Amino acid sequence: MKLLVLNGPNLNMLGIREPAHYGKQTYGQVVEMIEAHAAARGVEVHCLQSNHEGDLVDWIQDAYFKEYDGIVINPGAYTHTSIALLDAVKSVGIPTVEIHISKVQEREDFRQISYIRAACVAAIIGHGTQGYLEAMDLLIDGGKA
Ligand code: DQA
Repeated sequence: MKLLVLNGPNLNMLGIREPAHYGKQTYGQVVEMIEAHAAARGVEVHCLQSNHEGDLVDWIQDAYFKEYDGIVINPGAYTHTSIALLDAVKSVGIPTVEIHISKVQEREDFRQISYIRAACVAAIIGHGTQGYLEAMDLLIDGGKA
């Protein structure tokens, strides 16, 4: 099984960025944690981060051609603005889990909209960076069912 973990804008700033919302782990540490979890679960994982919407669209499309079995995505602020990401996930038909580190439901009104959610099999919100691992487990265990 091959999983793609995508992170959107400003998630490269984890560890520096608003620790009260996002914790103290750096992006590099989160990637290490994801890779260790993938190894423990016996799956292949590839992690990518970009501050640019088009890169995320390209990588979702590539996931189809490279035959990924599942996508975990934290679209960052593009969650609340991007119909292009919604369309990309719909285009590829790959099981996709949306994840947010912070408790978005307790934050500003503009964070209450998620365009991508309509195309996702699940959303994991507010479980900190552990949410990435939960999203992976959901795809791995769902894939086996
Ligand atoms: C986020 C929540 C978004 O509202 C925000 O724009 C982010 C991170 C999260 O992981 O909690 O960049 O997706």
